[in-house]
Amino acid sequence: MFRNATAICLHLVGPLRGKKSGASLTRCLHQTLTMAKRLQARRLDGIDHNPWVEFVKLASEEADVVNLGQGFPDFSPPEFAVEAFQHAVSGDFMLNQYTKAFGYPPLTKILASFFGKLLGQEIDPLKNVLVTVGAYGALFTAFQALVDEGDEVIIVEPFFDCYEPMTLMAGGRPVFVSLKPSPIQKGEPDSSSNWQLDPTELASKFTSRTKAFILNTPNNPLGKVFSREELELVASLCQQHDVVCITDEVYQWLVFDGFQHISIASLPGMWERTLTIGSAGKTFSVTGWKVGWVLGPDRLMKHLRTVHQNSIYHCATQCQAAVAQSFEREQLHFGQPSSYFVQFPQYIQRCRDHMIQSLQSVGLRPVIPQASYFLITDISDFKNKMPDLPGAANELYDRRFVKWMIKNKGLMAIPVSTFISVPHQKFFDHYIRFCFVKGEHGQRVEWRKWKQQKQEEKKKWKDLKMTKKLERQRAQEEQAKGQHEEEAAAQSEERGLVHAVVSALCQDRVREDAPETLMSE
Ligand SMILES: Cc1ncc(COP(=O)(O)O)c(C=O)c1O
Repeated sequence: MFRNATAICLHLVGPLRGKKSGASLTRCLHQTLTMAKRLQARRLDGIDHNPWVEFVKLASEEADVVNLGQGFPDFSPPEFAVEAFQHAVSGDFMLNQYTKAFGYPPLTKILASFFGKLLGQEIDPLKNVLVTVGAYGALFTAFQALVDEGDEVIIVEPFFDCYEPMTLMAGGRPVFVSLKPSPIQKGEPDSSSNWQLDPTELASKFTSRTKAFILNTPNNPLGKVFSREELELVASLCQQHDVVCITDEVYQWLVFDGFQHISIASLPGMWERTLTIGSAGKTFSVTGWKVGWVLGPDRLMKHLRTVHQNSIYHCATQCQAAVAQSFEREQLHFGQPSSYFVQFPQYIQRCRDHMIQSLQSVGLRPVIPQASYFLITDISDFKNKMPDLPGAANELYDRRFVKWMIKNKGLMAIPVSTFISVPHQKFFDHYIRFCFVKGEHGQRVEWRKWKQQKQEEKKKWKDLKMTKKLERQRAQEEQAKGQHEEEAAAQSEERGLVHAVVSALCQDRVREDAPETLMSE
């Protein structure tokens, strides 16, 4: 194909030689290539639009927008992690070279020992651990290795947005089941624990074609931590229908208010059918290092190794070395006040509470998250008050609201419909997601200005209501006056009529009584 395209190009380019034809030449080359063959692989059909790109671009076009949409910390990682990284780049020169395809041995070893204790499993670093380019890499490898053409993959929504395209790219069919909020007492804040799956609906999604169940606990964007009972239900359905569970647990160390993260792989009978995914990025606040991992039984892992060996091969050795050293440190401090896994959630919980108060102070209704970097907030009060925000006629309200917020409040969040399957988006278009792992940026948000504006808007709203009331009163008075006049006129008309009738009758009487002579006149 390339040889043909080049031949055609040379033929077309020939006459242009010697002319000032840079632009025409580019156009010519471009045309030749686009005309030759369909470029986009069919597996990309329907997934080539990404709302993230659109919203990040919008925010970058406005001056000084605070980005509370994307999930990364805006503060330093712990000192021990930075030191480990410095050590990795300046120490052993062999760390500049390839390492083992399935993971740098000290990292696979510490992951096996650290998570082996948590999951209650004897984990073999060579057979049960795969180090990947972030949790994204782990997910991609898992989908490619296990999901086949026509396989059904159950996804719990709201879901981390890459699960759907990853299913589609592997040829699978996503089947969605929604977490729904139970009703709450008026005035009470909503909580992510209140969002639940309907057990009957959940069971109905499992069929003979179901290959995998995607679990994300703690969940992004809701911050829900699945309870033991909820996990037991999922586990029993997976076992009953012989389904693999792919569980994304990247926020497992970021749990608040005494809630407890439970790995589904630790439940009886689940290790054999579960792939557990983690991320050093979320664990040590180093999202740019892009180190992730998958843990699971060899019967599943061997297929992931085949994909990984033939695609990514492995991720940066120095980053893996730094993550290994950080885990070694954490293992020594595990469960103690000096542990990052103890200190970090305490700090982030304060950031969460600050964000909750700020959102509540401007009239938003956050759903209190039990865990993670994120919370979603209910904007239905705004939807009722400002239903006509600019945007395309069929554009969902949450998307229009975020665009309005970027322009008018200098603040970016992510519309929750981004995390929902298309057929269900209309039911969730009154929520937006904020990231609260933003020490400095979180404080830069001018909530005071928002509040002031809100008060001004409230006053304007009140004035408008008063004017409308006065206008209504005036209209009622006018109407009453008009009615009164009409009645008076009708009365006088009636009186006139009566008078006329009476006088006519009187005249008739006079005529009747009159002498004949008079009548004939
Ligand atoms: C639920 C979830 N899984 C996976 C990832 C990707 O993690 P990583 O940066 O390690 O690729 C993210 C990142 O935001 C996430 O929120």
